[in-house]
Amino acid sequence: MCGIIGYVGQRPATPLLLDGLKRLEYRGYDSSGIALMQDDGINVMKKKGRISALEGMLNGHIADSKATVGIGHTRWATHGVPNDLNAHPHSSMGGDLVLIHNGIIENFSELKEYLSNTGYTFTSDTDTEVLANLILDFYEGDLLKAVVRALHRVAGTYGIVVMHKDHPRSMVVARKGSPLVVGVGEDEYFVASDLAAMVEHTRDVIFLNDNEVGIIEDSGFRHFNLDESPIQRQITHIDFTLEQIEKGGYRHFMLKEIMEQPQTLEDTMRGRLLPDGGIKLGGLNQHLDELANADRILLLACGTSYHAGLVGEYVIEELARIPVEVEYASEFRYRNPLIPPNTVAFAISQSGETIDTLEALREAKSRGALGLGIVNSVGSTIARESVGGVYLHAGPEIGVASTKAFTSQVTVLMMIALLLRQQRMGLDETSQDITDALRRIPDQVSTILKDHSQIVDIAKMFSRASNFLYLGRGTQYPVALEGALKLKEISYIHAEGYPAAEMKHGPIALIDRMMPVVVLAAQSGAESAKIISNTQEVRARDGVVIAVVTEDDHQMDNLANHIIRIPKTLNLLVPLLAVLPMQLLSYYVADLLGLDMDKPRNLAKAVTVE
Ligand code: AGP
Ligand code: GLU
Repeated sequence: MCGIIGYVGQRPATPLLLDGLKRLEYRGYDSSGIALMQDDGINVMKKKGRISALEGMLNGHIADSKATVGIGHTRWATHGVPNDLNAHPHSSMGGDLVLIHNGIIENFSELKEYLSNTGYTFTSDTDTEVLANLILDFYEGDLLKAVVRALHRVAGTYGIVVMHKDHPRSMVVARKGSPLVVGVGEDEYFVASDLAAMVEHTRDVIFLNDNEVGIIEDSGFRHFNLDESPIQRQITHIDFTLEQIEKGGYRHFMLKEIMEQPQTLEDTMRGRLLPDGGIKLGGLNQHLDELANADRILLLACGTSYHAGLVGEYVIEELARIPVEVEYASEFRYRNPLIPPNTVAFAISQSGETIDTLEALREAKSRGALGLGIVNSVGSTIARESVGGVYLHAGPEIGVASTKAFTSQVTVLMMIALLLRQQRMGLDETSQDITDALRRIPDQVSTILKDHSQIVDIAKMFSRASNFLYLGRGTQYPVALEGALKLKEISYIHAEGYPAAEMKHGPIALIDRMMPVVVLAAQSGAESAKIISNTQEVRARDGVVIAVVTEDDHQMDNLANHIIRIPKTLNLLVPLLAVLPMQLLSYYVADLLGLDMDKPRNLAKAVTVE
């Protein structure tokens, strides 16, 4: 998920690797390291924190090394807290083989058990170190073959670069689900997870696809499928600017992160949905009894994470039949809350550093609740202070407006709801139906994102509006709140989210022909008829309606002014799809107004003040 750079050439590798790592800093990371091929073996240096900390450590050690082969990594932890030992590169037992890895080895615990029984020992908590030893276990003199054989045993995602001291002028690379590209220079080769790390040196590249491996040597790059059949791929010449590359070709991080959601949702669910509909959440394994016996669940969060919590309330109560309370973390901690026995509290936070959420978690724990976390940043303070929990695995979120974290949070809450249900009531058809529907979500998200020109048109029509109202019922009410928050934080247009039926108790007074009203109406059943009536009430007062409905629903055809259609899913999962047009609409409105939505005024990515 984070950054990889490798070099085989004639120039000293250290400065090239460090420069490459600095080019990857924009992705967010928690530690970094390099490994150099020296005469006496492979020398690894790694350090928690900024790259400058690594540089400080290199001075006086290997900074002036003449090594011309080496690898570097920025880690964004998924398994094991960010510290020096868990940082990459990782060495096999004995240190002859060294590798860097982006992604997640899903079956690392089974592999670790097998390797431990064979006599291997481990010094880190990572999934990556397991892979280093697994490759060594298959090594009989041919590094490429050993990597291929090991990868046949691996489930999960990887972009890897592997070095072995017996092959001092080569490195083996492989990719599945995590990008890797080889750069071809004059008498030198680069490999990186991201063009940004090497475009200064070469713009001639060979992209690896999933399930491909290759070996870089002085004599050239050889490239194979995982069944070892050779591949001949043309060199591609890149002429993007560095800034375009960092944003993956998108104009802003926010748009990149919106468009990334099919992949981030796959990553959030990876290895957690079992074929029989069961749910496996490793970080909750120690607490299954407490969860099964919970009398009350508390969800504590701020901002977008709070909106994800509101969806969680619906799905947990519906599926697990346990009372849920969602609270703004800041309100919870100051109101002398009552925590009856058997209360489980989840702190929900993308950054894991939001002070209000952290303090609320501490408060809940100190009053006897089981304090768990739903966090994106591994090893963040909230993750460390939770006694267990679930990581989002959505990758670093850089845009200040949270987008991909929201859909991953809702997905995690959905999986928690299913797990609770299964603990209490066993596996049933409902669980199976929901996991089947969840598996379809990434493709449905792609469908919405692929052609969204209609949302751009709607943004053009309304970018000059001064106020917006967002309405929804049931699971769509939190989406209305989230739509309004997204719009106000990046476009500075006043927007309010409301439960659709509440509109007539007040906000209806605001409606006139200048007021765009976004109606979230993509759920079926009883709520559907009700929201039609609420829409009639808006239209009767000349309000302009932008409705989000499912693709086969025509009830709004003669009622709404603009209709956005999304694919059909189960009612409980609609927020995962309906929020996408909300994210896109706010992005395009802000863009049309010429605002920098990646850094909106007055806002910070992690709010560490009370
Ligand atoms: C979302 O777009 C916001 N910038 C903000 O509301 C955010 O969700 C909130 O500050 C909570 O952050 P956290 O998830 O990192 O705790
Ligand atoms: N899963 C690996 C780890 O936690 C790799 C993380 C990354 O992609 O940076 O160390």
